[in-house]
Amino acid sequence: MTDIRGKRILLGLSGGIAAYKAAELTRLLTLAGAEVRVVMTEAACRFITPVTMQALSGNPVHTDLWDASVPNNMAHIELSRGCDVVVVAPASADFLAKLALGLCDDLLSTLCLARECPLLLAPAMNLQMWGNPATQRNLKQLRGDGIAILGPASGDQACGEVGMGRMLEAEEILEEIEACFQPKLLGGKRVLITAGPTFEPIDTVRGIANISSGKMGYAVARAARDAGAAVTLVSGPTAFVAPRGLERIDVSSAQEMYDAVMARVAKADVFIGVAAVADYRPKEARGHKLKKGTGEITLQLQPNPDILGAVAAKRNAPFCVGFAAETENLDTYAEAKRRRKKVPLIAANLAQHAFGADDNQLVLFDDQGRHELPRAPKIALARALIAHIARLLPKK
Ligand code: CTP
Repeated sequence: MTDIRGKRILLGLSGGIAAYKAAELTRLLTLAGAEVRVVMTEAACRFITPVTMQALSGNPVHTDLWDASVPNNMAHIELSRGCDVVVVAPASADFLAKLALGLCDDLLSTLCLARECPLLLAPAMNLQMWGNPATQRNLKQLRGDGIAILGPASGDQACGEVGMGRMLEAEEILEEIEACFQPKLLGGKRVLITAGPTFEPIDTVRGIANISSGKMGYAVARAARDAGAAVTLVSGPTAFVAPRGLERIDVSSAQEMYDAVMARVAKADVFIGVAAVADYRPKEARGHKLKKGTGEITLQLQPNPDILGAVAAKRNAPFCVGFAAETENLDTYAEAKRRRKKVPLIAANLAQHAFGADDNQLVLFDDQGRHELPRAPKIALARALIAHIARLLPKK
């Protein structure tokens, strides 16, 4: 079950070269089980054809306010009533200006004005047009009207310039659409999360790492953000791109992770330690590459600080959540860890099933006992974990 299965999404396209990304977005949405209806402005039809969008969405594409095939001849009302969200991607500078003023001289702008559901806009334009005070004024107005602005990103532009105004990628827009359907269970809360492995240097080119990919930690960060929290993600080395709209602090060693967490924990309402932190580090990290010798060498290790334990032991500690990756005796070890680290909640999984995989299975241990979260994609488990945390948080 995806977050948007069965949701009715009205995808609007205004005129811009980024219209080609709307084709990919339509495909992602339909693959995720959403019902997609497409409305295009006249300018959008110059960049991509309605035939393409019809083939990808599996539904007729609407372009005309005066479409006589709509039974009551009111396409704008008909279309805007039957959807759960309206997404306009690309949203051109002209289209933003129109909406900011409440103008409605074509089907897309009219149904945006007539809608009763949330509206998400993914702007796409040249960087000068984006930076123009008129556009910025319009964006301020639109945000004030409760309309969500997705992006844009900075980067290479079709016009050959480089800067702000590139439309988000289809995958990123999909994530924002999924986020808009999530209940804001952590609205107003600040959540600090550790994720990924740590890397403990032996010399300048070698070190001790582990096989954590960071996938679960990043899923938890995304789920917390989607639940309305202000998220800070302290991340060990991973290949993942941080979800949009959160603060990411990159660290390498356990000591760096400890320092980054301790510098920020006072402001956190919730701390979730998902990182696979190395328990030990080489006593001495050489400042040059070690040369091969003839015999054995001995690596002396010393303990790393326990980040979760230290956070939980603080006065006014945030609500602390630990992760336990075990290879056997899951229940006994996880519950023992919960008591030893004095945290109210531990999410336990079997390490051999968890590391690097897309799916996982969690067992939550808290004061009430044991709660199984059946095998599911990591983002679904992360959302269930966030919902569990929200239920346990002290009510103010
Ligand atoms: N953790 C931490 N700092 C450490 C080690 C672990 O914050 N130095 C956190 C992890 O992020 C996780 C939890 O503690 O939330 C459990 O980590 P784990 O390494 O499994 O626990 P240990 O107490 O180290 O037990 P063991 O390695 O013996 O299983």
